[in-house]
Amino acid sequence: MTIEILNSSHVAQIAELERICFSDPWSERSIASELDNKLAYWLVAMEEDRVAGYIGSQTVVGETDMMNVAVHPDFRRKGIAETLVNALVDDLKKMESHCLTLEVRASNAPAIALYEKLGFSEIGRRKNYYRNPREDALILRKEWGI
Ligand code: COA
Repeated sequence: MTIEILNSSHVAQIAELERICFSDPWSERSIASELDNKLAYWLVAMEEDRVAGYIGSQTVVGETDMMNVAVHPDFRRKGIAETLVNALVDDLKKMESHCLTLEVRASNAPAIALYEKLGFSEIGRRKNYYRNPREDALILRKEWGI
């Protein structure tokens, strides 16, 4: 597995993975627009020429929001999401961001276990944040010194 910074060759496969993984997926056009977004930083895990997973973020004045993370069902439980989050945090440190914040569905046990393992703490909850189905979001954050 190799980690690459998002480029146009990844976009179609990421859009396909969004549709597989999420009930409210990002469109191919919105993913492509991240290529021109100076606030955005995405990493992609490649298994040969397949996108195995990806992580998307946006940073505003030293604070980063994770937009999404997903791993293709064929490649789960092999440490790819953990590698992606850790690689993102390593790169954000170099970019002088000091925290990573995300929302996760309250019922998404695999993702919550991932974030707990990687040192994220719950800082709040947004009532009925998600649609399809309606559900609360937990807000999690990881902070570090730079
Ligand atoms: N059940 C319980 N814990 C799980 C889990 C599962 N199904 N999947 C991951 N974890 C936790 C474990 O703590 C695991 O560490 P361990 O293997 O030492 O037990 C840790 O996360 C790292 O797992 P990893 O193999 O890196 O995760 P993954 O590559 O399979 O990807 C997701 C995890 C959540 C990204 C993946 O299941 C996915 O794409 N889900 C759909 C999209 C999604 O929900 N994204 C999160 C949006 S907030």
